[in-house]
Amino acid sequence: MKLSIINGPNLNLLGAREPSIYGAQSFVDYLEELKAKYPQVEFDYFQSNVEGELIDQLHKVGFSSDGIILNAAAYTHTSVGLGDAIKAIDTSVIEVHISNTFAREDFRHTSYITPNAKGLILGFGLDSYRLAVESFL
Ligand code: DQA
Repeated sequence: MKLSIINGPNLNLLGAREPSIYGAQSFVDYLEELKAKYPQVEFDYFQSNVEGELIDQLHKVGFSSDGIILNAAAYTHTSVGLGDAIKAIDTSVIEVHISNTFAREDFRHTSYITPNAKGLILGFGLDSYRLAVESFL
């Protein structure tokens, strides 16, 4: 099984960025743990701070990958383009968030991803990504 993980803006700073909200581990380290736990899964990982590059990556993997795990970060709350890209591709997308966005500011309660996603997992820290992997398995 081939799973694609796509992370949006500022998630390259995981481990250093607001650790009280997002934890102290970098995503690259966490990804190594995921790869070790699921040797049967072929993971590809992409992170960008640029909205159009995230859309391009959805187009790139969205007809060949068996599942996409997307944390669009702040673009979740603003990007019609990302929502449309999910509609345009064949592969199912699971939306994940590290924090419980519904327990935070009102602007984080809107998602342009959720209506087009297969499901939503949030609030479990980095474990949200593992739960998304389990769901695809
Ligand atoms: C986030 C939640 C978003 O509201 C925020 O902009 C992020 C990270 C999360 O994983 O909790 O950058 O997607």
